[in-house]
Amino acid sequence: MRIVITGGAGFIGSHIADAYIAAGHEVLVLDSLWEHGGGRRANVPERASFMHMDIRDEGVARVFQEFRPEVVSHHAAQHSVAISSRDPKYDADINVMGLLNVLDAAVKTGVKKVVFASSGATFGTPERFPITEKTPQHPTSPYGITKMVAEHYLRFYKAEKGLDFTALRYGNVYGPRQDPNGEAGVISIFIGKFLKHEGVRIDWDGEQTRDYVFVKDVAQANLRALEAGSGNCYCIGTNIKTSVNDIYRALVQISGFEAPVTNGPKRSGDARDAQFDAALAKKELGWVPQTKLLDGMRETYDYFKNLA
Ligand SMILES: NC(=O)c1ccc[n+]([C@@H]2O[C@H](COP(=O)([O-])OP(=O)(O)OC[C@H]3O[C@@H](n4cnc5c(N)ncnc54)[C@H](O)[C@@H]3O)[C@@H](O)[C@H]2O)c1
Repeated sequence: MRIVITGGAGFIGSHIADAYIAAGHEVLVLDSLWEHGGGRRANVPERASFMHMDIRDEGVARVFQEFRPEVVSHHAAQHSVAISSRDPKYDADINVMGLLNVLDAAVKTGVKKVVFASSGATFGTPERFPITEKTPQHPTSPYGITKMVAEHYLRFYKAEKGLDFTALRYGNVYGPRQDPNGEAGVISIFIGKFLKHEGVRIDWDGEQTRDYVFVKDVAQANLRALEAGSGNCYCIGTNIKTSVNDIYRALVQISGFEAPVTNGPKRSGDARDAQFDAALAKKELGWVPQTKLLDGMRETYDYFKNLA
């Protein structure tokens, strides 16, 4: 299959590129290497083509016309909750207008399907856990809002223009190549600090939980979505809650270093828990997460250690 991956120079997109190429597909990565994102030219696999372009550029249709993809994996996004809260128009420009530019280009050039990187952020702070596809979506950030809106646009393009889609609502993805700076996942941020033998800051009481899913498992869900999950949205998580304190203790075990801890206040808007039941993804995509947290964290730690 010929596949375009927008955001394929980024953390998750580059692992999807690896998985698609390993499965024998032909990949073109379209990425702007956005300054606040985790995109790096070096993340793009050698066997993939690369186009340095913004998803809002009208040239996207020309790129699709020339490459003739059957599937577009749409992973490029403004993914910072903080930036989205400060500047909702900027967030919508990339996450809505950029998406529409990609969808129009896809329709115009005969693309059959879009696989979309949605988010657990579309649910906001639900009353009950685990979160399933039936949980009402009440996003609490502009980022969560634009991801939810994107799902509605995908439904519209399928119904009105025949463009199929699968949307994957990720929990907290972690693994090699995640940007250890900025507001990326706590696992890569902590690993960066542990490797430099620096202290870490734990906000709130550290007992807030997230559902951490390993990036290579996420890439496998994207592989399944090429052939299955027509017109549907799926929760992609492990159904396991892990606290920040658990992450800290696991890293002490992996590294043998007891990083000094300072405590910070609860960050505004921070949710207490997250936990995603991926039973529907198992049933319809045949996807089950394979990687135990400690194994995934060890692989991530070794990756960053070898870079240092
Ligand atoms: N990391 C997570 O835990 C997580 C959770 C839920 C959803 N997601 C979604 O998964 C996708 C990938 O996230 P990631 O963590 O790999 O982030 P990332 O920053 O590593 O990757 C995003 C990529 O998109 C590119 N990009 C950004 N704006 C662009 C634009 N206007 N035009 C072209 N390219 C642009 C960036 O350069 C980067 O390479 C995003 O859509 C994100 O919202 C991530």
